[in-house]
This record gives sequence, structure tokens and C-alpha cells, in this order.
Amino acid sequence: MSLGDISTPPLEDWLRERYFAASLDISSSGVLNYTLGELRDLLGGQMSELDDVIFRDSPSTGCEELREVVAARFAPGRAEAVMVTHGSTEGIFLALSALLRPGDEVVVLAPVYYALSAVAEAAGARLRVWELREEDGFRPDLDLLEWQLTPRTRAVVVNFPYNPTGACLDTAGRRRLAAMLARHDCHLFWDAAFGELIYDGPPVTAPTEAEGMPHTLSKAYGLRGIRVGWCVAEPRLLAEMVRIRDYTTISTSPLNELLALEVLQSADHVLLPRLELARNNRAALLDWAAAHDGLVTCPVPVGGVSAFPRFPGVADVTDACETLLQRHSVLVVSGRCFGRADLMRIGFGGGRRVHHRSRTTRPGAR
Ligand SMILES: Cc1ncc(COP(=O)(O)O)c(C=O)c1O
Repeated sequence: MSLGDISTPPLEDWLRERYFAASLDISSSGVLNYTLGELRDLLGGQMSELDDVIFRDSPSTGCEELREVVAARFAPGRAEAVMVTHGSTEGIFLALSALLRPGDEVVVLAPVYYALSAVAEAAGARLRVWELREEDGFRPDLDLLEWQLTPRTRAVVVNFPYNPTGACLDTAGRRRLAAMLARHDCHLFWDAAFGELIYDGPPVTAPTEAEGMPHTLSKAYGLRGIRVGWCVAEPRLLAEMVRIRDYTTISTSPLNELLALEVLQSADHVLLPRLELARNNRAALLDWAAAHDGLVTCPVPVGGVSAFPRFPGVADVTDACETLLQRHSVLVVSGRCFGRADLMRIGFGGGRRVHHRSRTTRPGAR
């Protein structure tokens, strides 16, 4: 297989047209997006520094100040291990491409967020599956993982909290996972896109042994369109990632880096209102599921802003999703995008804002 054969990303493909056609979006795995004006108000300033941005290239791993702020929050004392990326998507692509070679075995979750398996496969890896079982409420069972490890296992790729169900590993589980992988001498690749969206407890951080650790402003901060994320990995791996990046994006935009810097310097001002909104929405979703007992079952998401309910008796929800869009202009995701057509992904991070087709400004804004 070569890179040109990489499979069509089912989730992006599902959202490509529908995202702009729907008025009400309850499909997303991210919180309600901010406008620039809202961001300026939250950050309490005029953002006058924006006037001084010079539109030159940034360093290959991102501007130093941003790397330091990321490190202070997510990898204390390790700014040299931070690379600024175009969202988690680029972090996943670069890190897995740098880490894996044909013939490596890689364990991925199932159901899986497609990029985490498709990029590994395109790098020539053979996939083994760590299934999160519906009958366990999608809770990760480390014994099931251990059975998938072999002497050829190069990496275990996880994302906790988990898209689409919001399941997570607790502290003891994270410790056991790190110890298990150290014993098997394989890498732990941890996608932490939702690490700051946790309802009952502190943010979930990856064990420090993890490589990759893509994280992003997309999901918890409501700033998807800024397209800024970051990766924390050994500088050795970052150097390999830079080599690959030189053929794609070269670097991130200095304008977006400055916005990201300002956001992370006041992270809680941006994060907490959206976490509160998501917490209330999650309660409303679970109340709705409880009120429709027998018609819907919904495992409780520990983190993230997506749920993966079942509608007993419905073997494939895809037609129902299409009907919701056509009749009511409501967007959800068919579980088919995660290899589970019998389940539906519902996003609960949003607000009551109604989308207007193809607009990048909020209705009413000029
Ligand atoms: C688990 C996971 N990782 C990464 C991403 C990509 O995020 P970004 O918008 O930062 O590229 C997503 C987006 O849905 C995701 O669900």
C-alpha cells in the first residue's frame, strides 16, 4: 500500500456536504465554536498585537513562545518536545508516519476514530484490534489489550477520552497501560484531543511515556477553525516529523499561532464556559435517554462531547440520520463512520446557534 491508497475518511466524507446543509448541528465532537468578537471579549483586550504579525514562515516546530506555553500546561519543562501542528489531524499524520514502518504491528481501538487506523495502515502497519465492547459500556478492558500484543507490536494507538463514546481510562488504568507497554517494549501513542473535556475530575493527561499525544484547540476550546494543535514527543521523533512536514504544510501560520498563544495564556477563560455548557447538555441528553427507556440506551460519556447511543431494533441508523437532515435540517453522524451502523453519534457540545449555509460569519454579523 502507498500513501495514495489511503482509505476515504468516512467521517469527513459524511460531514463534507451535510455540515454546510444542516441548520442544527448535533454531530460534532467539539464544543460550540467562538466568534472572533467573543474571543476578544473573553481575552479582555483589543488583540492589538495582531497588527504586528509579520506573515513570514514560522519555525518548523512552531514559534518558541507557543511551544513554551503548551509545555507549561501539558508537558512541564519539555518545550523541546512540543511541535505545533495544523490541528490534531496533522499531529496524527506526522507522528504515525514517522513512527511506523511496513510490517510493524499496531494495536488500534474499535470502534475507531478513522485517522488513527487509516494513517497507520497507510504507513504499512498491520492492524490488530483492541475492542471496546458495548456490553462493558465501552469501558477499556486492559486484559483484552494484552491479548493483542505480540513481539512485533510497535505501537498501541489510543484516544482517551474516546471518540465516539466518551469512555476513558482512570489513573490506575493509565499506569497499568504504561507499565504493560514498557514490558512489551512498544510505543504508546495517545490522542488527547478531548483530555480537557472531563466532567467529574481533573483533565486526563497521557502517561509521560506516550509519544504523539496530539492535542488541539478544536475540541475543548471551540476554536476549530484556527486549526492549531500540538504534539508532545521525543525530539528524535519530532525531527522525523519535520522531515515529513517539509513536503506538506512546512509550518503553521504566525497569525494562528499568535491567537493560540493568547488563548492558552488565558486558557480557563475560554475553556470553562464551554465545559459548563457541555456539562448541562450532557445532563439533558442523559435525561432524554432515561425518559425514553426501551427506545434508546446511551452509555454515559466520562469525557468528550459525543455519545454513541443505540436505538433497540434499528440495525442501521443511516436512513434515520438522512431523514433527520432532510426533514428537520438536523445533523447527526451514522455510526457507519465508525464501523457500527447500529449506533448513532450525537454531539452534545453545541449551543442553540443556528447555522446558515456556507457562512463563515454568525447570522446577524456583517
Ligand atoms: C479523536 C480525534 N482526534 C483528532 C481529531 C482531529 O482534530 P483536529 O480538528 O484538531 O484536527 C478528531 C476530530 O474529530 C478526533 O475526534
